Amino acid sequence: MTASRPIGVFDSGVGGLTVLAEIRRELPAEDLLYVADSGHAPYGDKPPALIEARAVALTGFLIGQGAKAVVVACNTATGAAARLLRSRYPVPIIAMEPAVKPAVGLTRSGVIGVLATRATLASHSFGRLLAQVGAGVQVLLQPCPGLVERVEAGDLDGDYTRALLADYLRPLLERGADSIVLGCTHYPYLRPLILDLAGPGVTVLDSGVAVARQVRRRLEADGLLAPAGRLGTERFWTSGCPVAGLGLVARLWRAAVTLEPLPDGVCRDSGLSSW
Ligand code: DGL
Repeated sequence: MTASRPIGVFDSGVGGLTVLAEIRRELPAEDLLYVADSGHAPYGDKPPALIEARAVALTGFLIGQGAKAVVVACNTATGAAARLLRSRYPVPIIAMEPAVKPAVGLTRSGVIGVLATRATLASHSFGRLLAQVGAGVQVLLQPCPGLVERVEAGDLDGDYTRALLADYLRPLLERGADSIVLGCTHYPYLRPLILDLAGPGVTVLDSGVAVARQVRRRLEADGLLAPAGRLGTERFWTSGCPVAGLGLVARLWRAAVTLEPLPDGVCRDSGLSSW
């Protein structure tokens, strides 16, 4: 039965685990498939055609594994490929939207900062979102090259990560931003550091919970919710090396996991790895 099939989720790497965690909280009965495209991360400084090709390959893989819906847990892949994926695949495709609208509702200073990859900030979908922001609110855009790499390296609070973040936050804070939108799914792992650097009075927003609710609404509307009263499972793949990636995935997921190699992965040592 279609409703008992899994939900597929992918990101350029481990960032989408922040979204996966919210989907797990929202939908405990669902089986979840997750692909970390760590062999190709980061996406943010790559040409749109390459990001699009990866998004198509990963969505095809997840549907091949039986996914009844696919969540693009990556703002960069959303900007580059969500429209194409929706036109190409017959399953619901749920994608990211940086939390600019909630930030507009919250800001008191009228200045919002958005941290994201260059590719996200340059995308048409982000441009459309910005066009919806009313007059009287100023949105400051801050590309953050290097930040995804810090998270992929597992450095969530080291000196280099702190210095990089301080450089990216400074111009936003100096211009009075009181709401910081995390427009990349890797960045919620840096929230404690961001809050520490931004200080009191600054709200930090991401879209994980909103996307998880959207997944529920979409599955409900399509009659695709898994039967309640069961505990869903998770299965993880990487296009990087499972042995190298396992520790970080287990640490971020906060549980023992098995990490399987993606068939088109970049690693020669392609056995699965468990923890
Ligand atoms: N998590 C991805 C996003 O939301 C990171 C993009 C990248 O790999 O640069 O944009």
